[in-house]
Amino acid sequence: MAAPLTDILMIGAADYGLTGQLVWPDAVLMNNYLSEHPETVKGCSVIEFGSGIGITGILCSRFCKVAVLTDHNDEVLEIINKIIEMQSCANAVLTAEKLEWGNHDHISNIIKKHPVGFDVVLGADICFQQSSISCLFDTVGKN
Ligand SMILES: C[S@@+](CC[C@H](N)C(=O)[O-])C[C@H]1O[C@@H](n2cnc3c(N)ncnc32)[C@H](O)[C@@H]1O
Repeated sequence: MAAPLTDILMIGAADYGLTGQLVWPDAVLMNNYLSEHPETVKGCSVIEFGSGIGITGILCSRFCKVAVLTDHNDEVLEIINKIIEMQSCANAVLTAEKLEWGNHDHISNIIKKHPVGFDVVLGADICFQQSSISCLFDTVGKN
């Protein structure tokens, strides 16, 4: 029997870490845009913030040359890595990295691997907590 909606809402409300395990409407909008305008990322190096299970970064990897999907949640990263393993159409070098916005160790680890930075920084549905916004912009500035 399916779980009642109230139970599902309570599970979601109990753990913010689960947010990345859903595909959010903004990711669908972003993917529609990128499908119609692949030139936005064609040949570029792209980093995605708060990628969740990564549908945007994965789509980019069809067109760009480097795609790095990032999230701060370990369970989400485990899912992203499994999804990356299943990709056979990626044109890009496609990887996942742990990145908590504002975390200098995470940022330096990524910069060490990508010293020239990225051409495009993407994020779908990631501006939802006032407290994270300055960390998020600080992190964008360093990439
Ligand atoms: C609403 S979900 C959006 C997921 C995906 N981009 C989408 O649109 O389907 C927000 C994502 O941001 C991640 N996130 C939230 N706060 C974060 C933080 N401080 N640092 C890094 N990632 C964060 C969550 O783990 C989650 O995957």
